Amino acid sequence: MGRTTVSLSGWELDNPVIPASGTFGYGQEFSELYDINCLGSFSFKGTTLHPRFGNPTPRIAECPAGLINSVGLQNPGVDHVLAVELPRLARFYKKKVIANVGGFSVEEYAEACRRLDASEQVGILEVNVSCPNVDHGGMSFGVSPEAAAQVTRAVKAVTKKPVYIKLSPNVTDIVPIAKACQEAGADGLSLINTLLGMRIDLRQRKPVIANRMGGYSGEGIYPVALRMVWQVYEAVKIPIIGMGGVSTAAEVIEMMLAGATAVQVGTASLIDPWACQKIVEELPQVMEQYRIESLQEIIGGAHHG
Ligand code: SIN
Repeated sequence: MGRTTVSLSGWELDNPVIPASGTFGYGQEFSELYDINCLGSFSFKGTTLHPRFGNPTPRIAECPAGLINSVGLQNPGVDHVLAVELPRLARFYKKKVIANVGGFSVEEYAEACRRLDASEQVGILEVNVSCPNVDHGGMSFGVSPEAAAQVTRAVKAVTKKPVYIKLSPNVTDIVPIAKACQEAGADGLSLINTLLGMRIDLRQRKPVIANRMGGYSGEGIYPVALRMVWQVYEAVKIPIIGMGGVSTAAEVIEMMLAGATAVQVGTASLIDPWACQKIVEELPQVMEQYRIESLQEIIGGAHHG
């Protein structure tokens, strides 16, 4: 095991750095910039059973410490991903990928996951019950412990792959939802998705985003994400993939000390497409600075101080 190796449900990653879903497509554009095999893995764009065109534009509002998006789960559908995106990915990416799955009913989540279960290229199913940008689905499953547990059980019944549930921060208390997923059989948790936010255009006196509200991500949400990873780590035994505003190697380490086994980097890649590569390269030097021998050993380390 290397010094930066971490293990997610028995899957060894060379390092804990994982581009977050929705910020890395299906890998192709970034592979034209650098060899993406340097990453721990990456989580592909949230994929649903059927293709989706997404929300009306404008979908993006820039903010001083991040951005708001309301993409609306635009994606080509799971069959296209299996037939086109994953075979293309295999040409330049030799590791397993995290399959991020969205849905509008329990049955849809389960069916998309059942189809992805057949792919050798998928290491983990990351089930997104926290998209704030769609009606009658997405986040509505992630704000109730019962609904999140129902999705977890349905997906677990159709796959042998590890199932990680991606949780929403748009709740009074994330802990009961995390516990409900664990009790329903989740192998791990990913947190946090974006915070519901909005901006208003002063000239037009109307919301910037066509859908009015969207998910706020980027550096501004990092302390909130860190706090939630900390709280969930104290409450569950399953691994956590931490995310939310991470943009440096030091923040990856901080997130791991709070309880994350691996860390996703999202909006940082939209500001600097080489951000994840730079974080991977900087990790050994930051480990040296803080006298860290092995990353696997520091997970949750701040709880025992
Ligand atoms: C979107 O496609 O609207 C973003 C996905 C998400 O926030 O879960």
